[in-house]
Amino acid sequence: MSVRSAITPAPVEVATAVEGFRLWPGALDAAAQAALAATVFARLRQAPPYRPLTPGGRPFSVEMSNFGPLGWVSDRAGYRYQATHPETGRPWPAIPSFLLDLWRRTVDWPGLPDACLVNLYREGARMGLHQDRDEADLGAPVLSVSLGDAARFRIGPAEGGTTTTVRLDSGDVCALTGPARLARHGIDRILAGSSRLLPGGGRLNLTLRVAGRGL
Ligand code: SIN
Ligand code: FE2
Repeated sequence: MSVRSAITPAPVEVATAVEGFRLWPGALDAAAQAALAATVFARLRQAPPYRPLTPGGRPFSVEMSNFGPLGWVSDRAGYRYQATHPETGRPWPAIPSFLLDLWRRTVDWPGLPDACLVNLYREGARMGLHQDRDEADLGAPVLSVSLGDAARFRIGPAEGGTTTTVRLDSGDVCALTGPARLARHGIDRILAGSSRLLPGGGRLNLTLRVAGRGL
């Protein structure tokens, strides 16, 4: 499985109200998408997706798991990164090497990510506008891979104001860099049935972050 060579040229700088949102449309071809989805589902057998609680005590509609030394979790105690799955108590599976290669070829950062949040959106799941700010170094980019059904992604400046929607399709890769690193973003909805990649339907989103010291 390799990253399509077309990933190497400059990404598209999407016109949004915040500078630094980069998009590589169709970065993963059909074979790479299928191989990555199979790898992800195999690792999820060791770390089953679950629905975390918000600090307010409501379950997320998105199912989550993680790969890497650190994983993002939420519960009544708040948001944080931790080394173990909250339900099994076991360490998270390793980040697939394909994703580390993708990071090396796309973002401009000297180190490697030590956390990969796995978001599984079955039909009807969404994610409210938020910022990613639980990481130790907020200067490091966040890299995101979309697989399966298309999504309506919303993004706007950290301080609020105008937001823009961007359709993310299976195989698209995007990054929050520079001023967009702290952009507010979320998933308004999943376009159910737009892809047949995932068994059971829906969308997988893999988000690579430098949560602690990196790998
Ligand atoms: C996230 O912000 O953690 C996920 C975004 C996405 O699903 O594309
Ligand atoms: Fe996020």
